[in-house]
Order: sequence, then structure tokens, then C-alpha cells
Amino acid sequence: MTQVTNTVRFVLDGKIIEAQGERRTTTVLDYLREHLQRSGTKEGCAEGDCGACVVLVGELNAAGTGVDYVPTNSCIQLLPTLDGKSLKTVESLQRPDGSLHPVQEALVSCHGSQCGFCTPGIVMSLAGLLQTVPAPSRNEITNALSGNLCRCTGYKPIVEATLVASQADATLLRLDDAADLSLLQEIRRASTPSYNLEGDIVVQPVVRTRKGNEFVSPATVTEVADYLLKHPQATLLAGSTEIGLQVNKQFARPEHIVYLGNVAELKKIDETPTAWRIGAQVSLTAVEQKVAAAYPDFAEVLRRFGSPPIRSTATLAGNIANGSPIGDSMPCLMALGATLVLRRGEATRSVPLDAFYTGQKKNVLRASEFIEAIELPKPVPGRVFHAHKVSKRFDQDISATCCALSYSLRQGVLADVKLAYNGLAPSPCRAPQLEAVLAGKAPADVTAQALDAAIAASFTARDGLRASWVYRALVARNLVLKFLQDEPASSPSPTAVKEALS
Ligand SMILES: Cc1cc2nc3c(=O)[nH]c(=O)nc-3n(C[C@H](O)[C@H](O)[C@H](O)COP(=O)(O)OP(=O)(O)OC[C@H]3O[C@@H](n4cnc5c(N)ncnc54)[C@H](O)[C@@H]3O)c2cc1C
Ligand code: FES
Ligand code: FES
Repeated sequence: MTQVTNTVRFVLDGKIIEAQGERRTTTVLDYLREHLQRSGTKEGCAEGDCGACVVLVGELNAAGTGVDYVPTNSCIQLLPTLDGKSLKTVESLQRPDGSLHPVQEALVSCHGSQCGFCTPGIVMSLAGLLQTVPAPSRNEITNALSGNLCRCTGYKPIVEATLVASQADATLLRLDDAADLSLLQEIRRASTPSYNLEGDIVVQPVVRTRKGNEFVSPATVTEVADYLLKHPQATLLAGSTEIGLQVNKQFARPEHIVYLGNVAELKKIDETPTAWRIGAQVSLTAVEQKVAAAYPDFAEVLRRFGSPPIRSTATLAGNIANGSPIGDSMPCLMALGATLVLRRGEATRSVPLDAFYTGQKKNVLRASEFIEAIELPKPVPGRVFHAHKVSKRFDQDISATCCALSYSLRQGVLADVKLAYNGLAPSPCRAPQLEAVLAGKAPADVTAQALDAAIAASFTARDGLRASWVYRALVARNLVLKFLQDEPASSPSPTAVKEALS
């Protein structure tokens, strides 16, 4: 169906909402509270941290027979990203007879709410969990709550309430979306490009202002590439967990926004016998699930990345492109030898991730070029991979440093060593001088002194808000020693050392 410019269309509880004349940077939270009077959804931090604003965003599943929901921080999602999707808020849970959702009932009976400010966000996180995991374990419950801060009740009664709610009849736990399905079909966005009479691609904006600023939501990679050639300054929007902050906290108002969330080709993980090709719009949750068996340490780093609403919207490509010095996925990807597929127009090129950054938040992307995919090698027999993130708080916190190490052991000595960090330099990076300390040695012969000397020679000592330099350097060294301590202690032969270094 043709999109009407300047109208964002989404489904809310069996009705199509047409949001007209909104700014391209209006947030979902502001629209809910100010235009729809759905004030159950609260604003706490406006930066994705507290979870008071959690809602469930739904999309038709691949077969078109049901709706898949993801918990989402509505404070950092831009309203036009909802175009073609559905939304459930805490108000959606009330049944026609006025009764509450089992999670709400149980929070009342288990005394799981005091001031109540956090409660709607907690209810939505838990309703989302019980939708997909009907009998969650305590771990699954605390994980689902890791992005919801409660300052007065404490989590014990909230966890108890979830266990009680999970005993309810499955039909009561399921979100009522029977009326939404056909409406989602009706507002489904086009999945092929449109062309004008001259044969040029025309990307219909979702929102367009009188000044010509716009928010577009292309359906294909070809359209994205074409749009970026015509508008090299356009801002790409993926999961919005960085851009949403820039909008709220720095009042960023990008003139042209290109949303990748409707591009099916970018939402896939393709597979060859030796690698995964992860599209630029694949969420961190999907990556975590894909790599869990092959690289458990990488999956654990991702599990501690933000919170479930952050991970279910944020992308690997967005983390890489953003290039924060404390970005968590990059050390793992560098140690695993990941490569980026960069695209400009029809042309693509491959760049190893460890050659992507040129400085703090600087990279080799050219004008109009974007990350199309990340190629991640699959495990190879004999190759070892370790990673660990150290942060002040275990969940929902940013790294002091995250370290990732991969190597092979050849006749007892370390070979083909790849070691990478965040938090030590202007961008996440490999550490060649430390790699040289390890290569050709038996794990038991690697000393703290040699690592300390290489750390001092590799990085500029800098104290940061999240950790002093002394602490970071100590963690950087100790993580390597920890990774190696489980390797069997044996003395390598001189030939093995020579081969490992060749
Ligand atoms: C509460 C909270 C917790 C967080 N916790 C962590 C954490 O634990 N660890 C961590 O590393 N980060 C964390 N972050 C930061 C953020 O979530 C990540 O950097 C995330 O991966 C960004 O992805 P996104 O899809 O949301 O990017 P977006 O916000 O959509 O975009 C980020 C940047 O990437 C660009 N971009 C997006 N896609 C492409 C592409 N395909 N090609 C080129 N450029 C592109 C955008 O233009 C923008 O400049 C956190 C953020 C929040 C708000
Ligand atoms: S208001 Fe705090 S996460 Fe959205
Ligand atoms: S009940 Fe007050 S913050 Fe959770």
C-alpha cells in the first residue's frame, strides 16, 4: 500500500493509529503520553537505563500468522520507527471485564510495588517474558528485569510475583492481539523499491517537513545505498540506542534519517560452512543466540550488554559504527577475526574490523558508505577463545575494560594469538605488543611482568570516569593470566616454539 507522507501508521490494541504532522525525532514515549494520554508508561531517565518506559513493539512474524514482540525502551525510540508495526503498553493489558494481567495481580498479592513508578515498566518486561517463556527460571526472571530499576520495593517480591504469575492459565498470559493481525497486514510496508518514470529509485518518506527534512524507511539495501549516494550526510538509524540518546540529551535533529529496520535483507544471518554473515540490522539478542554454542564467552559478553530492551533493539553494526572506546562487541569480534562488508552504491569492499578505526569515533567509512554485514568466522578445531567484561555493576553497566583472546596451542605453545581490548585506547583495538609476549610461549611461562611492560609500552595511561588507569591496566593483565591458567602446564620443545613464531 502507498505510504502517506507525514503519517506514521501503527496498530495499537485493535486500532490503526495515524500520527500526523509529527517531528521525525518525536519519541514513542512522548507521543504516548502527550497525544494518546497513555501516561501509564513513565519517563525516568530518558536514556534507556531505568526501564520505566518499557513497552512491547510487535511485528508480523515471517509467516504472517502471528506477532513477535520485543521489549523496547520507548524513551529512545523515534515514533516513525513504529510505522508498519504494533504497540502494547501497560494499558493494553487490561481485559474487557476490567481484570488485570496475571503479572499485575501477582505484584499486588506479593507486595511487589511500593511507590509504583517503576511498576508499569516492570509489568511490561515480565509480560513480554511470559509471552515467550511460560515457565521461566529465577535466572531468566532476573535477566528479564536487569533493565528495570526499582528503588523502593526491592526485587525479591517482584521475582516471587513472576513465579506466581507464571502458574496462571496460558491464555491469560498471552497478549490479546487477535484484532491486530489483519490491521498489521493492512499497514504492512512495501517490500520492493518504487521507481519514477525516469527509472530512478524513489524512497517515500514516512515523515517529511516543509523544509525538506525527512525520515525514510526503505525496504531494500539497494534503496538504502541509492538514498545515501543522493544524501551523503544522512544519518543511518538502526536500533536507536545511541541516536535516541543524542536526540534526548544533545537535542540532535538530523536532517535526513534513514531507518534500516524495514530492510529484510539486513535482518538476516546467512551461513557458509566457515562463517556467519550477520546483516547490519540483526539485533544483539539474535547474535547472542546464534553464537551461544560456538563462542559461549562472546555470548556472555553480549548477555551483559545493556539490558533485554537494549539488546533486542540495538545492533552489532550500530555498536561497531558508533565506535565507542568502551564498545563491548568489538574486542570479541577482533579476536575472532571478524570482517566488515562495507557498501557504497553497488560497490562493496571487505575491511577487517581491526583495520576499521582510525581514532576516537573515527573510521575508514567513506561518504555514502555503510556497514552492510559483519562476517564472523566459525570455530576451528584447536582454536581457543576467551572473553570477559569487567564493569562496576555486573548487569546493565559499561565496561571498565573488556578483553578477548584467541589462540591455537601448537605442541604446547601459543600460536596465532589475537588479543583485543576496549577501554584502554581511543577505540577498541588489538594489542600487538602483548600478542608478541604470548606468541611462542607455553601458557605457564607467560609472566605478569612481561604483560605489564607490554601494556605500559602499548597504551597511554589515562584515568577515566569508570576506572583509574592503574585499575584498568591491572585488569587487562590479569584477564590474560586468568584465560591462560586453565591450559595444561608442559614444557614446549625448541622446535615447537620456532614453528609457533613462524
Ligand atoms: C542503556 C544503555 C546501555 C548500553 N550498554 C552498552 C553496553 O553494555 N556495551 C556497549 O558496548 N554499548 C552499550 N550501549 C551503547 C549502544 O547500545 C550500542 O552502541 C549499540 O550497539 C548501538 O546500536 P544501535 O543499533 O542502537 O545503533 P544506533 O543508535 O541506531 O546507531 C548508532 C550509530 O551507528 C550508525 N550506524 C548504525 N547502523 C549503521 C550501519 N549499518 N552502517 C554505518 N553506520 C551505522 C548510526 O548512524 C549511529 O551513528 C548502551 C546504550 C544504552 C542506551
Ligand atoms: S525513561 Fe528510563 S529507560 Fe526510558
Ligand atoms: S516501587 Fe518505587 S521504584 Fe519500584
